[in-house]
Amino acid sequence: SHPVTIAIDGPAGSGKSTVSRLVAQRLDGGFLDTGAMYRAVAWACLADGVDLEDREAVAAVARDLDLDLGTEPAGAVVVVRGQDITAAIRTQEISALVSAVATNTLVRAILQERQRAIMLEAAAERGSCVAEGRDITTVVAPDADVRVLLSASEEARMRRRAAELELDDSEEARERMRDQVLRRDRDDSTVSEFLRPAEGVHPLDTTDVSIDEVVEAVLALVAQAR
Ligand code: C5P
Repeated sequence: SHPVTIAIDGPAGSGKSTVSRLVAQRLDGGFLDTGAMYRAVAWACLADGVDLEDREAVAAVARDLDLDLGTEPAGAVVVVRGQDITAAIRTQEISALVSAVATNTLVRAILQERQRAIMLEAAAERGSCVAEGRDITTVVAPDADVRVLLSASEEARMRRRAAELELDDSEEARERMRDQVLRRDRDDSTVSEFLRPAEGVHPLDTTDVSIDEVVEAVLALVAQAR
């Protein structure tokens, strides 16, 4: 059977990362977290003291970045210049900076091209590849075999995000996170419309659905496509 490509988009807290990894594991295929690439560019700019407003300079960082993501769903490790930055790119500091990188159209063109290449190579090698992000169903892989857009209520998204960040119960920490997630949604939505499904994209609301059920729903779509 031909290699299967699966594109999964959605906002922070929609369950996108968890679902995408589990689907990739179940298929024993490849996995690509495209958000990690934008985060890695933000991290490198910070490390190099590159002004995020300088579009050309940030694009140069993206173009020359020695980035190794791996496509192993179980333990995707992000390595830049030989340094493991898997944890470093998940901080709130990077989350606050990443939209400035993601709204840079020069950077997007560079990363989107790399993402297409990684996705096709992993699918060819491993029989399938799941790529997740904001614009996979629309720009990176509009011709993917399966395209899914995840959504969830704001409350569910904030709850999952807080758990992910292992936030304490303080009101202040939660308010700060909420502000940040909503600001990021707003900034990101100026780049690509990822809250409404494009034609041919399957919408899946994860609010009251267990992760396992979402995974099964995606796997059913994969079985249909095969
Ligand atoms: O998915 P994650 O929260 O790690 O993504 C981090 C940021 O990367 C997003 O807020 C968005 O600005 C950017 N991004 C994007 N396009 C993608 C994936 C992520 O613009 N395909």
